[in-house]
Amino acid sequence: MCKRWQPWLLDKFNTVYEATVAVRKRTLLGGLRGRLLEIGPGTGANLKYYSPEVEWTGVEPNRFMHAPLLRAASAAGLRATISGHGGERLDCGSGSFDAAIGTLVLCSVGDVDAVLREIMRVLRPGGSFVFIEHVAAPPATRTRAVQRVVSPLWGAFADGCRPCQETGRMIESVFGPLDAESFLVPFPVIGPHLAGSARKR
Ligand SMILES: C[S@@+](CC[C@H](N)C(=O)[O-])C[C@H]1O[C@@H](n2cnc3c(N)ncnc32)[C@H](O)[C@@H]1O
Repeated sequence: MCKRWQPWLLDKFNTVYEATVAVRKRTLLGGLRGRLLEIGPGTGANLKYYSPEVEWTGVEPNRFMHAPLLRAASAAGLRATISGHGGERLDCGSGSFDAAIGTLVLCSVGDVDAVLREIMRVLRPGGSFVFIEHVAAPPATRTRAVQRVVSPLWGAFADGCRPCQETGRMIESVFGPLDAESFLVPFPVIGPHLAGSARKR
Protein backbone atom coordinates (compact mmCIF):
# COMPACT_ATOMS: atom_id res chain seq x y z
CA MET A 1 0.00 0.00 0.00
CA CYS A 2 1.38 3.37 -1.05
CA LYS A 3 2.65 5.47 1.90
CA ARG A 4 0.95 8.54 0.42
CA TRP A 5 -2.53 7.05 0.99
CA GLN A 6 -1.89 5.88 4.52
CA PRO A 7 -2.79 9.17 6.27
CA TRP A 8 -6.19 9.17 4.52
CA LEU A 9 -6.78 5.50 5.32
CA LEU A 10 -5.71 5.92 8.94
CA ASP A 11 -8.06 8.89 9.43
CA LYS A 12 -10.98 6.87 8.01
CA PHE A 13 -10.16 3.97 10.34
CA ASN A 14 -9.71 6.26 13.35
CA THR A 15 -13.11 7.94 12.97
CA VAL A 16 -14.66 4.56 13.92
CA TYR A 17 -11.88 3.11 16.09
CA GLU A 18 -11.27 6.07 18.41
CA ALA A 19 -14.67 5.76 20.10
CA THR A 20 -13.74 2.24 21.24
CA VAL A 21 -10.55 3.36 23.02
CA ALA A 22 -11.26 6.98 23.99
CA VAL A 23 -11.86 6.29 27.69
CA ARG A 24 -8.66 4.25 28.00
CA LYS A 25 -6.68 6.89 26.13
CA ARG A 26 -8.00 9.63 28.42
CA THR A 27 -6.91 7.58 31.45
CA LEU A 28 -3.52 6.47 30.12
CA LEU A 29 -2.44 9.60 28.24
CA GLY A 30 -4.20 12.46 30.02
CA GLY A 31 -2.05 12.26 33.15
CA LEU A 32 1.34 12.23 31.40
CA ARG A 33 3.60 15.23 32.01
CA GLY A 34 7.03 16.48 31.01
CA ARG A 35 8.88 15.36 27.90
CA LEU A 36 6.92 12.77 25.89
CA LEU A 37 8.13 10.66 23.00
CA GLU A 38 5.52 9.08 20.75
CA ILE A 39 6.57 6.31 18.38
CA GLY A 40 4.62 6.19 15.09
CA PRO A 41 2.00 8.84 15.90
CA GLY A 42 0.47 8.60 12.42
CA THR A 43 -1.86 11.55 11.81
CA GLY A 44 -1.95 12.45 15.53
CA ALA A 45 -4.99 10.62 16.91
CA ASN A 46 -3.50 10.78 20.43
CA LEU A 47 -2.53 14.44 20.54
CA LYS A 48 -5.86 15.72 21.82
CA TYR A 49 -5.50 13.57 24.96
CA TYR A 50 -2.22 15.15 26.16
CA SER A 51 -1.98 18.08 28.52
CA PRO A 52 -0.89 21.27 26.69
CA GLU A 53 1.88 21.49 29.31
CA VAL A 54 3.81 18.58 27.80
CA GLU A 55 6.73 18.85 25.41
CA TRP A 56 5.94 16.30 22.69
CA THR A 57 8.25 14.62 20.18
CA GLY A 58 6.88 12.31 17.49
CA VAL A 59 8.99 9.74 15.62
CA GLU A 60 7.14 9.13 12.36
CA PRO A 61 9.01 7.64 9.37
CA ASN A 62 6.13 8.17 6.91
CA ARG A 63 6.66 11.79 5.89
CA PHE A 64 3.15 11.99 4.39
CA MET A 65 1.90 11.90 8.01
CA HIS A 66 3.89 15.00 9.03
CA ALA A 67 1.55 17.71 7.71
CA PRO A 68 -1.62 16.30 9.37
CA LEU A 69 0.45 15.63 12.48
CA LEU A 70 1.56 19.26 12.70
CA ARG A 71 -2.06 20.40 12.24
CA ALA A 72 -3.21 18.06 15.04
CA ALA A 73 -0.41 19.33 17.32
CA SER A 74 -1.37 22.92 16.65
CA ALA A 75 -5.08 22.19 17.27
CA ALA A 76 -4.12 20.55 20.59
CA GLY A 77 -1.93 23.53 21.54
CA LEU A 78 1.15 21.33 21.95
CA ARG A 79 4.83 22.20 21.67
CA ALA A 80 5.72 19.57 19.07
CA THR A 81 8.80 18.27 17.30
CA ILE A 82 8.65 15.61 14.58
CA SER A 83 11.47 13.31 13.54
CA GLY A 84 11.36 11.24 10.35
CA HIS A 85 13.50 8.43 11.80
CA GLY A 86 12.23 4.95 12.59
CA GLY A 87 11.89 3.94 16.24
CA GLU A 88 14.67 1.36 15.84
CA ARG A 89 17.30 4.08 16.04
CA LEU A 90 16.26 7.15 17.98
CA ASP A 91 18.19 10.35 17.56
CA CYS A 92 17.67 11.25 21.25
CA GLY A 93 19.87 11.26 24.34
CA SER A 94 19.66 8.45 26.90
CA GLY A 95 17.30 9.15 29.79
CA SER A 96 15.86 12.23 28.10
CA PHE A 97 12.09 11.46 28.21
CA ASP A 98 9.60 11.16 31.06
CA ALA A 99 7.31 8.86 29.09
CA ALA A 100 7.08 7.12 25.72
CA ILE A 101 3.85 6.23 23.95
CA GLY A 102 2.95 3.77 21.22
CA THR A 103 -0.55 2.95 19.97
CA LEU A 104 -1.16 0.45 17.18
CA VAL A 105 2.46 0.72 16.20
CA LEU A 106 4.48 -2.25 17.50
CA CYS A 107 2.46 -4.50 15.17
CA SER A 108 4.09 -2.87 12.14
CA VAL A 109 7.57 -1.68 13.12
CA GLY A 110 10.38 -3.56 11.37
CA ASP A 111 12.21 -4.68 14.53
CA VAL A 112 10.06 -4.70 17.68
CA ASP A 113 12.90 -5.64 20.01
CA ALA A 114 15.14 -2.82 18.72
CA VAL A 115 12.31 -0.28 19.12
CA LEU A 116 11.60 -1.43 22.68
CA ARG A 117 15.29 -1.27 23.61
CA GLU A 118 15.55 2.24 22.20
CA ILE A 119 12.47 3.31 24.18
CA MET A 120 14.05 1.83 27.31
CA ARG A 121 17.30 3.73 26.60
CA VAL A 122 15.71 7.16 26.11
CA LEU A 123 13.38 6.94 29.13
CA ARG A 124 14.61 8.35 32.42
CA PRO A 125 14.72 5.88 35.33
CA GLY A 126 11.15 5.61 36.61
CA GLY A 127 9.76 6.78 33.26
CA SER A 128 7.00 4.76 31.65
CA PHE A 129 6.16 3.29 28.29
CA VAL A 130 2.41 3.59 27.69
CA PHE A 131 0.85 1.42 25.01
CA ILE A 132 -2.41 0.36 23.40
CA GLU A 133 -1.83 -2.44 20.90
CA HIS A 134 -3.88 -5.01 19.12
CA VAL A 135 -2.41 -8.43 19.88
CA ALA A 136 -2.61 -12.10 18.98
CA ALA A 137 -5.75 -13.83 20.25
CA PRO A 138 -5.15 -16.67 22.74
CA PRO A 139 -3.74 -19.84 21.11
CA ALA A 140 -6.22 -22.39 19.75
CA THR A 141 -9.07 -19.88 19.45
CA ARG A 142 -11.06 -19.21 16.29
CA THR A 143 -9.84 -15.61 16.20
CA ARG A 144 -6.22 -16.78 16.36
CA ALA A 145 -6.83 -19.13 13.43
CA VAL A 146 -8.38 -16.28 11.43
CA GLN A 147 -5.46 -14.00 12.33
CA ARG A 148 -3.01 -16.63 11.10
CA VAL A 149 -4.83 -17.22 7.80
CA VAL A 150 -5.24 -13.54 6.87
CA SER A 151 -1.77 -12.46 8.05
CA PRO A 152 0.05 -12.37 4.67
CA LEU A 153 -2.68 -10.39 2.89
CA TRP A 154 -3.32 -8.20 5.93
CA GLY A 155 0.33 -7.29 6.16
CA ALA A 156 0.48 -6.42 2.47
CA PHE A 157 -2.45 -3.99 2.73
CA ALA A 158 -1.85 -2.63 6.23
CA ASP A 159 1.77 -1.47 6.14
CA GLY A 160 3.28 -4.76 7.32
CA CYS A 161 0.91 -5.12 10.29
CA ARG A 162 1.22 -8.55 12.02
CA PRO A 163 -2.12 -9.59 13.59
CA CYS A 164 -0.61 -12.71 15.29
CA GLN A 165 2.10 -10.89 17.23
CA GLU A 166 2.35 -11.54 20.98
CA THR A 167 3.23 -7.93 21.68
CA GLY A 168 2.59 -8.04 25.44
CA ARG A 169 5.14 -10.78 25.88
CA MET A 170 7.66 -8.82 23.81
CA ILE A 171 7.24 -5.67 25.90
CA GLU A 172 7.53 -7.76 29.06
CA SER A 173 10.76 -9.34 27.88
CA VAL A 174 12.41 -5.91 27.72
CA PHE A 175 10.68 -4.02 30.56
CA GLY A 176 9.67 -6.75 33.00
CA PRO A 177 6.16 -7.00 34.53
CA LEU A 178 3.46 -4.87 32.90
CA ASP A 179 0.55 -3.02 34.40
CA ALA A 180 -1.86 -3.88 31.61
CA GLU A 181 -5.38 -4.96 30.79
CA SER A 182 -6.66 -7.14 27.93
CA PHE A 183 -9.86 -6.12 26.18
CA LEU A 184 -11.74 -6.60 22.92
CA VAL A 185 -12.73 -3.98 20.39
CA PRO A 186 -15.52 -4.81 17.92
CA PHE A 187 -13.28 -5.21 14.88
CA PRO A 188 -12.52 -8.39 12.97
CA VAL A 189 -8.93 -9.74 13.10
CA ILE A 190 -7.56 -6.95 15.35
CA GLY A 191 -10.18 -7.22 18.10
CA PRO A 192 -7.92 -8.51 20.92
CA HIS A 193 -6.15 -5.56 22.56
CA LEU A 194 -3.71 -4.92 25.37
CA ALA A 195 -3.42 -1.49 27.03
CA GLY A 196 -1.32 -0.31 29.92
CA SER A 197 2.18 0.72 30.87
CA ALA A 198 5.63 -0.61 31.64
CA ARG A 199 8.15 1.19 33.83
CA LYS A 200 11.89 1.65 33.44
CA ARG A 201 13.25 0.45 36.75
C1 LIG B 1 -1.43 1.89 12.35
S1 LIG B 1 -0.52 3.34 12.38
C2 LIG B 1 -0.92 3.96 14.01
C3 LIG B 1 -0.79 5.45 14.12
C4 LIG B 1 -1.13 6.05 15.48
N1 LIG B 1 -0.21 5.58 16.49
C5 LIG B 1 -2.56 5.78 15.87
O1 LIG B 1 -2.79 5.15 16.93
O2 LIG B 1 -3.47 6.22 15.14
C6 LIG B 1 1.18 2.81 12.56
C7 LIG B 1 2.16 3.96 12.49
O3 LIG B 1 3.47 3.48 12.81
C8 LIG B 1 4.38 4.08 11.92
N2 LIG B 1 5.60 3.25 11.86
C9 LIG B 1 5.82 2.15 11.08
N3 LIG B 1 7.06 1.68 11.28
C10 LIG B 1 7.64 2.48 12.21
C11 LIG B 1 8.93 2.49 12.85
N4 LIG B 1 9.85 1.59 12.55
N5 LIG B 1 9.17 3.47 13.75
C12 LIG B 1 8.23 4.38 14.07
N6 LIG B 1 7.00 4.41 13.50
C13 LIG B 1 6.70 3.48 12.59
C14 LIG B 1 3.63 4.18 10.62
O4 LIG B 1 4.20 5.10 9.72
C15 LIG B 1 2.25 4.60 11.11
O5 LIG B 1 2.15 5.99 11.24
